Amino acid sequence: MTATIIVGTQWGDEGKGKITDLLARDMDMVVRYQGGNNAGHTIVIGSDVFKMHLIPSGVFYPNVTCVIGNGVVIDPQVLIEEKETLKAKGIELNNFKVSSQAHLIFPYHKLLDKAQETKREAGRIGTTSRGIGPCYVDKMNRRGIRLGDLFNESVFEERLAWNIEEKSFLLQKFYGMDVKLNKEQIKDDFLGFAKILRKFVVEDCSLLINQALKSGKRILLEGAQGTMLDVDHGTYPFVTSSNPISGGACTGSGIGPTAIDEVIGVVKAYVTRVGGGPFPTEIHGELGDMIREKGGEYGATTGRARRCGWFDGVVAAHSTRVNGLTSLAITKLDILSDLPKISVCTSYEYKGEKLNYFPLDLTKLEKCKPVYLELDGWKSDIDKIKDYDDLPKNAKAYLNFLEELCGARISLISIGAERGQIIKKS
Ligand code: IMO
Ligand code: MG
Repeated sequence: MTATIIVGTQWGDEGKGKITDLLARDMDMVVRYQGGNNAGHTIVIGSDVFKMHLIPSGVFYPNVTCVIGNGVVIDPQVLIEEKETLKAKGIELNNFKVSSQAHLIFPYHKLLDKAQETKREAGRIGTTSRGIGPCYVDKMNRRGIRLGDLFNESVFEERLAWNIEEKSFLLQKFYGMDVKLNKEQIKDDFLGFAKILRKFVVEDCSLLINQALKSGKRILLEGAQGTMLDVDHGTYPFVTSSNPISGGACTGSGIGPTAIDEVIGVVKAYVTRVGGGPFPTEIHGELGDMIREKGGEYGATTGRARRCGWFDGVVAAHSTRVNGLTSLAITKLDILSDLPKISVCTSYEYKGEKLNYFPLDLTKLEKCKPVYLELDGWKSDIDKIKDYDDLPKNAKAYLNFLEELCGARISLISIGAERGQIIKKS
């Protein structure tokens, strides 16, 4: 049995797509286990740039089976469009499966997402407005409609009618919106989507994945978002509505924790965050802007500018702990190449005392000041280096320090967006 989880260790956008694509070459199956099309996983192959939102990043290898697990929320129109975009580039979904238990995002979820954000005003989360939160709410509230429900028309109609009634009331009366949900149109659209997706649907992806594990197949579980956006272990309420951490891989795919051999944490060499919420090591002003431009730190999903900051060792240690990381994949090291000095946050100061764990109480976090150690930069291009030994001395020192702060070993170092720009470290 070999199952490996890839998990984001920061606030998302760590480069999970690239690492998944790299490891997928030696895998039999790649599974998305949570989130939805709030994710934007970028894979660069030659001059082609693919931005994947729903379909697993293993899709570029024809022999890899790609699975969307029960823990994912699906906007079926987006899934179909993504499938078509891939097809136009010559990539067919020959080995693609999607769980019938995955919940569906309806137009009213997107409207509610936007309406809630508008009403929150100053406390805005800055969601991707993809309807992710409201869809998970319905799932937990046992009002959701799953992909499989579309194949049972009377069940579908009954649930849809209930939801339309409830959501119309909320949108119109509570959020004061001038909208009318067209039940017949939504029903027809979704039955149309069901026809297109039918051949990919599996009743229970847990059976499929466990069968693959039993027969010695290698499985990769591709996380979306990141640890600090986890609804339980992140900066609540400035989080997403699922469990991106490694534990979510079990519930979102139907495998037991004993099946997991490896948990690889994807760690950006600095930190970014998109949307609202606390970010202790954020860099304001020119330097932050420079990192954003050099790193192309604009959302793959929404195009929004990402906030940039120094590497945060307190966040890193938190991530290593809650995910049980077995190794690290460092990404975007090349973006720091011009900097003469690089700061790293080693702990927080809280009321004059050193705090070396990440406080999940935001009122406490607000009063924390990052404590930095300044390292010398390497001031030379590294984006063509193939061997770890050829990295500049100061780059190696930086990596060693990150390893120490995270408490896990580095196995991969990404030095550019392209598929081949990767250094393996033993
Ligand atoms: P990948 O998989 C970065 C953020 C949003 C917002 C918060 C809640 O590409 O790393 P949501 O729409 O999920 O309710 O928004 O989470 N967010 C992400 N940030 N990368 C992502 O995915 C994200 N998915 C959601 O910006 O702050
Ligand atoms: Mg993203």
